[in-house]
Amino acid sequence: MRKSLVAANWKMLGRFADIAPYMAQLRLSDRADVVLFPSALHLQAAVLAAPDGLKCGVQDVGTSHGGAHTGEISADMVVEMGGSWCIVGHSERRIDQGETDDLVATKASAALKSGLLPIVCVGETLAEREAGHAETTVHRQLAAVLDRVDRSALSRIVVGYEPVWAIGTGESASADQAQEMHGFIRSQLDAMDPVAARLIRIVYGGSVTPDNASELFAQDDIDGGLVGGASLDARAFSAIVDAVPVGVA
Ligand code: PGA
Repeated sequence: MRKSLVAANWKMLGRFADIAPYMAQLRLSDRADVVLFPSALHLQAAVLAAPDGLKCGVQDVGTSHGGAHTGEISADMVVEMGGSWCIVGHSERRIDQGETDDLVATKASAALKSGLLPIVCVGETLAEREAGHAETTVHRQLAAVLDRVDRSALSRIVVGYEPVWAIGTGESASADQAQEMHGFIRSQLDAMDPVAARLIRIVYGGSVTPDNASELFAQDDIDGGLVGGASLDARAFSAIVDAVPVGVA
């Protein structure tokens, strides 16, 4: 019922010269939607070089559709340059740029209004998990977005569960830990809109590798992954795409 989604988040890495060789090595799968998030500066080059079936997007987006906002990039501009997806609320932006739940919700809503599909990232820090507050944190982050997004657009969001302690650390959440939180997120969505809850994809991010992807993606409520470090290598990322189980679509 839900087609898996596997996304590559290049963060502030990747060079223009890497794009063509990357595309030449990339292997897609009809079992999954595959999306590449290079830097915004590299978006157009990626769009032009992308093989059929690969979509591209940006790692962040502005809240406004245009105007005097120096340095910002609007969702309309992303669409104009051939992008179709964006990430909002990545923990690196919440932490480094101080992005609030409210700001993330505004970005998700602006993206949807322009026709961009947002991956809304949520996830607890290690301190929050150890204090027993992981679910409260994730619930709060997601509720801010669900309250803001137009009901008719709800099923177009993707939720990215990315525990902060697993990002870039080599220490992925276990498949059980991830499934537990994905199930919790699904129940939060269900309480709001049971139809949308069955359609919305919830992807896991945090040290996904070719070695752990199959076990993670086999879980009932894990509909793919958001991959950072391992996505910079086209072969490793292709192996992660290939880990999407048969019969999930
Ligand atoms: P990682 O990053 O795969 O390097 O842990 C994931 C992410 O931040 O999206």
